Amino acid sequence: MSDKPVIWIPRRLSDATLARARRDYEVIVNEDDTPGSAEDIIAMSGRVDGMIPCHSEHFSAEVVAKLDPRLRIVANHSVGVDHCDLPALKSHGVVVTNTPDVLSDATAEIAMLLMLGAARHAVAGDRIVRTGAWDSWSPSFMVGKQVTGARIGIVGMGRVGRAFARKARGFDMEIHYHNRSRLSPEDEAGAIFHADVDSLLEVSDFLSLHCPATPETRKFLNAERLARLPEGAVIVNTARGALIDEAALLDALDSGHIASAGLDCFEVEPGGNPAFASHDNIFMLPHIGSATRATRDAMGFRALDNLDAFFAGKEPGDRLV
Ligand code: DGY
Repeated sequence: MSDKPVIWIPRRLSDATLARARRDYEVIVNEDDTPGSAEDIIAMSGRVDGMIPCHSEHFSAEVVAKLDPRLRIVANHSVGVDHCDLPALKSHGVVVTNTPDVLSDATAEIAMLLMLGAARHAVAGDRIVRTGAWDSWSPSFMVGKQVTGARIGIVGMGRVGRAFARKARGFDMEIHYHNRSRLSPEDEAGAIFHADVDSLLEVSDFLSLHCPATPETRKFLNAERLARLPEGAVIVNTARGALIDEAALLDALDSGHIASAGLDCFEVEPGGNPAFASHDNIFMLPHIGSATRATRDAMGFRALDNLDAFFAGKEPGDRLV
């Protein structure tokens, strides 16, 4: 019988992550890679000392109330933790960590892709070529919105927001942002701070969301705020689907007030919003912001670093509660 801590890994993490985890822990992996259900989480809590879940495993207050006291740490393989009821886990005595920093560039890359693709008709363009429907060219064909030199509004200037701003600077964009607090001049790097959300919206030809999903930010981008954006604005969301009122977004796209949207996350995941499928002006990806090989390894290693510190009796670097 080994004296290594036992951990549960409900999803198929990167090979390098699994190899390191198996070296240092007794590991139970959900080989079929399906999301861990509430029943799985509760049952596993009596068999393991720690878990490395993804945002697909939901630690609601009801689940947490039934956790076995054996489980001492939830070392998330994600930066977002809206799938975890942090106060409930804290009062249950479970330590929770996440994986900040390491996915900022990968997520910002996807935000750039969505912004460019939404601005330049990537969905319709690809389909027209792919289906053989491209039979003419004219100066008025597929004319889009120029990104270079345009004004970008960034909601949430945390690590991902700042990584996105760095990339947007490469396109000579004029960067505006709203954040709970103003950044230092060094981090701001010339970006224009708006303490007031409405004033940010009014100047945002492009708007990219980079804030966490919390009860306060739920449906942040609602009909009223969409109406404040300039005519023809483009929306980008790589944060969480809960930030957007999807019905209001559809109305704004249908009216033409919003030109297009690039979305990597949706109110309902997996699956997305079926009403979006008929809209060529929505460029959609299936929540793959952090899905690069290097980033998956880095996320797995960061989660393991947190577990290692915890089981060595130290403070995990990314402890949230
Ligand atoms: C995150 O880390 O929050 C990403 O959305 C993937 O889960």
